Amino acid sequence: MFVAGTDTSITTLEWMMAELLRHPYSMRKVQKEVRSVVGNKTKVDPEDIPKMEYLRCVVKKTLRLDPAVVFLPRRTTATSGKRGGYDIPSITTVLMNAWAILRDPNSQMVEKTRRVHPREV
Ligand code: HEM
Repeated sequence: MFVAGTDTSITTLEWMMAELLRHPYSMRKVQKEVRSVVGNKTKVDPEDIPKMEYLRCVVKKTLRLDPAVVFLPRRTTATSGKRGGYDIPSITTVLMNAWAILRDPNSQMVEKTRRVHPREV
């Protein structure tokens, strides 16, 4: 639980900072939003968080582009079935590629987060 909660969160934060460094337009926009909401306070209050909508979009886009867990924990199928044109028998170990799913251009999620860096994407 400790590793699941700390390593994933820190890795995501590092990627978020890296993405913002690569996209100065978004960096300026998110800094402006944080300053306008938090102001000169020395800490962020819980009620400030829902007011920072652009920051939330940046976090979501980072989770999509740079997932801390690329392959989801393996699963075993309970029943047989067809997936993506393949016949998958029951009791088969399945590995899900989260990275590929999160970059699937046909996904609605991809379309929604595309607007976050309008100049770069
Ligand atoms: C950016 C942050 C995080 C990411 C990307 C992440 C990702 C994941 C993923 C992919 C799984 C496996 C889901 C599955 O079963 O397929 C998982 C499970 C889990 N995560 Fe996280 N996680 C994050 C933050 C946290 C935090 C903050 C905590 C705890 C404080 C946490 C605790 C757990 C636990 C306990 C499980 C196992 C759940 C179960 O199988 O019952 N995670 N996480």
